[in-house]
Amino acid sequence: MNSPKRYLITSALPYANGLKHIGHLAGAYIPADIYVRYLRAQKRDVVFVCGSDEHGTAIPIQAMKEGTTAQAIIDKYHPIIEQNFKDLGISFDIYHRTSSPLHHETAQEFFTLLNDKSDLEIKETEQYFDEATNTFLADRFIKGTCPNCGHDNAYGDQCEKCGKSLSPDELINPVSTLSGNAPIKKATKHWYLPLNKHENFLREWILKEHKDDWRSTVVGQCKSWIDGGLQPRAVTRDLDWGVELPMPSGKGKVLYVWFDAPIGYISATKQWALDNDKDWKPYWNDKDTKLVHFIGKDNIVFHCIIFPVMLKLHGNILPANVPANEFMNLEGDKMSTSRGWSIEMDDYINDWIKKDNGSESLADVLRYYLTQIAPETKDSEFTWKGFQDANNSELVSIFGNFVNRTFVLMHKLCGGKVPPFHNDLIDDSDKELIQSIHNARIKIENLLEEYKFRDALFEVIDLARKGNQYLQKKEPWKKVATGEQQLIDNCLHICLQLTANLTILINPFLPFTAKKLLKMMKVTDKILDWENAGKIKLLSVGYSLRAPELLFRKIEDDEILWQLEKLRQKSIANSQQKTEKKMEETNKKPEISNLKPEIVFDDFAKLDLRIGTIVAAEKVEKADKLLKLSVDLGFETRTIVSGIALHFKPEDIVGKQVTVVVNLAPRKMRGIESNGMILMAEDKSGKLHFVNPDNKIDAGSSVS
Ligand code: 2FM
Ligand code: ZN
Repeated sequence: MNSPKRYLITSALPYANGLKHIGHLAGAYIPADIYVRYLRAQKRDVVFVCGSDEHGTAIPIQAMKEGTTAQAIIDKYHPIIEQNFKDLGISFDIYHRTSSPLHHETAQEFFTLLNDKSDLEIKETEQYFDEATNTFLADRFIKGTCPNCGHDNAYGDQCEKCGKSLSPDELINPVSTLSGNAPIKKATKHWYLPLNKHENFLREWILKEHKDDWRSTVVGQCKSWIDGGLQPRAVTRDLDWGVELPMPSGKGKVLYVWFDAPIGYISATKQWALDNDKDWKPYWNDKDTKLVHFIGKDNIVFHCIIFPVMLKLHGNILPANVPANEFMNLEGDKMSTSRGWSIEMDDYINDWIKKDNGSESLADVLRYYLTQIAPETKDSEFTWKGFQDANNSELVSIFGNFVNRTFVLMHKLCGGKVPPFHNDLIDDSDKELIQSIHNARIKIENLLEEYKFRDALFEVIDLARKGNQYLQKKEPWKKVATGEQQLIDNCLHICLQLTANLTILINPFLPFTAKKLLKMMKVTDKILDWENAGKIKLLSVGYSLRAPELLFRKIEDDEILWQLEKLRQKSIANSQQKTEKKMEETNKKPEISNLKPEIVFDDFAKLDLRIGTIVAAEKVEKADKLLKLSVDLGFETRTIVSGIALHFKPEDIVGKQVTVVVNLAPRKMRGIESNGMILMAEDKSGKLHFVNPDNKIDAGSSVS
């Protein structure tokens, strides 16, 4: 198979609304970094882009929580997240920002091109609106009960519990996250991407062309989306935070965050090209570019369905693969920052790397364990005990032990130099190990090309394990007494060549460890070229090497217990905080607002208020908010149209007593004459209640 001319590798742009946890790291960043480091070692033309996703409702919501502005939030979290990635060895070529002017321009141009070609549709619909804050409620500005799993805190775009994508209209009992009020419906205009028109393309491209080379979990999720019926998707929002629509008819509206964020991959590539005096265009336009998106499973629909349709319409290349990972749980529960059940990258860095005098090898330990348990085919589980075992039983006892024994023995038995190899004394175990080195390269290469990072890492450790078995079998230390120096030479020569090979093979996974090994072998990073893997003449005979450095230290039980306790405390503190907040909200004094100007008694006396009984109720056609009521007033039954349809079902209110203003002039609503008005009380959450006597009384009774 011919290699593509160039690679563009992307990792999902994290929202700059808070710290990111190790589940994120395992899903979209470590695998991408392994792949990129491998491609770089192959000397391929590769650009690795990422950056902060700084738009969408998630940012202003965090600003409200922290009592600051959206701009202050992104300016706070962008640099922290960027530094966290650096500390953990994620080697982006650029870590950009969607708040940058270059991104805004790029996203606006993209939108304009599609709009000018009439690839977008414009529709006016009724959407939820919060009257208290004068805001349309899209995405995370609205919460309610999930229709899929019953979770009572689902957002207007997704339920975080069951993962289902939602629209605000699907939420049961929706409330505004801004004011806590029940919303009303209000008409507004938006631009839509008509996904329904692209069904054939998506079926052909994903379900036929990529059915075998994409992960089955990814193809499966796409299939159920397509089979479920693709709908036009709104790509604009009524918000004041985001990329503004570029034309006057879009005033006051911004691009939907999921429209602009993936374009962030393009603007990041542009910025990288500017910084490095390169041309960005072939990376997005030339068919000989291999574009690969690394993401978590909650982003599949956006990267496999929506963004590809946008790219196709815009005339760009499509992703060759989207190796999405499933989720990583933590100690038996779903990882979640908002529930306090997570390990943030920042915490890991402080607790393990900084506390250990900045020891980068602890970054590699995390990279190792997260790759070993990568949720490539199904959800997986991080446990602190598993982390300790992976370190102590594999990195320390297998990899570190082999390298250390080799170096110690070479210094002790071969004068600190690479010993010669005596071909005439080669035996079957030497040949077997040499063959294993050669095979390992092929196996690892094939696995990496197929995005099977767990299996590839297993092969590297297995090769080190074979090295240990070889040393154990050869026992060169016993050959001193018998004077068989040539056999000692052969054994340590092979072990040293194996160490050099392990350095190349481990480099994509554990780059800090590879760096330490280069130092011990006194060689430059030139040796890391992938084409050197599998060779056994990497270190020259007679070359003197340094003393061994400790690659990995043992992790003690008390360190693990401390982390478990920390996690428990964090989760307790988090739920206490939430309870306190809830109590604070319930105890809040009701706000007395919007008091009307004083009136005299005569003004009030003009009102004729009567008790009536609702005897029939039905919805008014094409009016979401209106009910047509028949109200028995004792002296007659009247038709009254009332704007309460979002609060009451017609069948639930028949028989209820209500207070009616009976001398209000008749008014036509949707062609129906309304003769009177029903009085309603609104509580502080925006819920409506009838104003009625405490016991049933005669219809027509007057109220004064
Ligand atoms: O899910 C998320 O965290 C999004 N911010 C990912 C965006 S990926 C891309 F499209 F930019
Ligand atoms: Zn749900």
